[in-house]
Amino acid sequence: MSTRVDLVITGAEVITGGYGPFIADVAIADGKIAGISMPGSMHGAEQIDARSLVLLPGAVDLHVHLRDPGLEHKETFADGTAAAACGGVTTVCDMPNTRPPVINVERFEAKRKIAQAQAHVDFGLWAGGMKLDEFRGLQAEGALGLKIYMNRSHRADDPYTSELSMPDGDALRDTLARCAELDMLAAVHVCNHEAEAAERARLSSVTRTDAKAVCRSYRNEGALDGLSRVIEAARVTGARVHIAHVSLAPITALGLVEQARCQGVAITCESGPPALLEADLDRLGVFGVPFAFPPEEAAAYWDAIRDGLIDAIATDHAPHTRAEKEAGNDDVWAAPPGYPGVETSLPLMLDAALRGNFTLARLVEVMSTGPARIANLPRKGSIAVGADADLVLVDPNGEHVVDENLLHSKAGWSPFHGRALRGRLVRTILRGQTIAADGQLLEIAPSGRQVAPEPRKAATSS
Ligand code: DOR
Ligand code: ZN
Repeated sequence: MSTRVDLVITGAEVITGGYGPFIADVAIADGKIAGISMPGSMHGAEQIDARSLVLLPGAVDLHVHLRDPGLEHKETFADGTAAAACGGVTTVCDMPNTRPPVINVERFEAKRKIAQAQAHVDFGLWAGGMKLDEFRGLQAEGALGLKIYMNRSHRADDPYTSELSMPDGDALRDTLARCAELDMLAAVHVCNHEAEAAERARLSSVTRTDAKAVCRSYRNEGALDGLSRVIEAARVTGARVHIAHVSLAPITALGLVEQARCQGVAITCESGPPALLEADLDRLGVFGVPFAFPPEEAAAYWDAIRDGLIDAIATDHAPHTRAEKEAGNDDVWAAPPGYPGVETSLPLMLDAALRGNFTLARLVEVMSTGPARIANLPRKGSIAVGADADLVLVDPNGEHVVDENLLHSKAGWSPFHGRALRGRLVRTILRGQTIAADGQLLEIAPSGRQVAPEPRKAATSS
């Protein structure tokens, strides 16, 4: 090899996202993968002996809420990306429902500045809003796409605002038409707000203490109506749509997505790890809201992950303070929805793979390659020559117990506290530099950079 090599990772079982697995050496130069070759064939300034370890591409989380600006008491880019780094996530995609929400170039630039100063991993930023003439400028700034909220707030401190929420069917179609013109990805929180509000009212008249009821209130038939409207608008406009947390809709949503895909609609979908069951809510209460599954639905989700219907695991990392969640102790309807998940996502999925639910190649597909493809980030999510050297070394024979006191999100709690998991993350590498090891963030200056989608084709309108 003629180029200067900074680092060689030797003898790991490499899961590329393409072919393999195979035992190989991976050489890194200038933050990129410079070569993949027979063990012992390459030498660099630094060497990591990774025999008996597995090498994965760093995970790409398409859906996190890092809360800055405006909600820094819940999370910051510094803490949220420290959590990502320690959880093997090397690219995070931040949602626009901050205060103020990111609906124009000025706000986009302001958020980018915050992120650039603090981020320990690479970051992409979603844009939001309904001002069609802002979309081109947001795209030029490198927005990952447009996040569409079909839902609205139920409570004053819900993390949505009217500036982000889609009021009716025509607006949805017009918005997707503009996204199609610009070839801008649209990520959609599907919902029928009236149906969701009615279901909340019905269930809250029955119980003030049952967290399961809150989880179920989201999975109402109206969400399927919302999904059908998105599919129809995508079909008519040709927009690419990505369904955020599809598991917030009833399980039949998976069938609708599959059917639409078979009919040529450009649709992808994400779910968090289906690792919380409704039974866990007996212990967690509102701390497990909204993603807790009846056992048979969790099983169906694991199957959908294995079989390829779920394109990406994305956490909806939604940190809230303990006190905010505890507001739901006496009245479950009074707490905000969401829980932190960016640091526990790869460990939970690795555990599932090591228990035989799916292969390590499939793990890489849903954690890294798939999300990078959806967001059109070709240098991310795979171990290939020329790709960014974002890597995670894993000990498949290790094990650990999730301890919320050792996690890095500002939330300081996790619904997965106490979980015994197979596998252990040993080291996270961002563009060739080790940023975390054995669950600890290294003391180095934050080095995260913005990522932006590669243009796929010339946009068709001015
Ligand atoms: O549970 C959720 N929490 N779902 C969302 O869509 C938003 C999120 C938040 O921002 O807290
Ligand atoms: Zn979200």
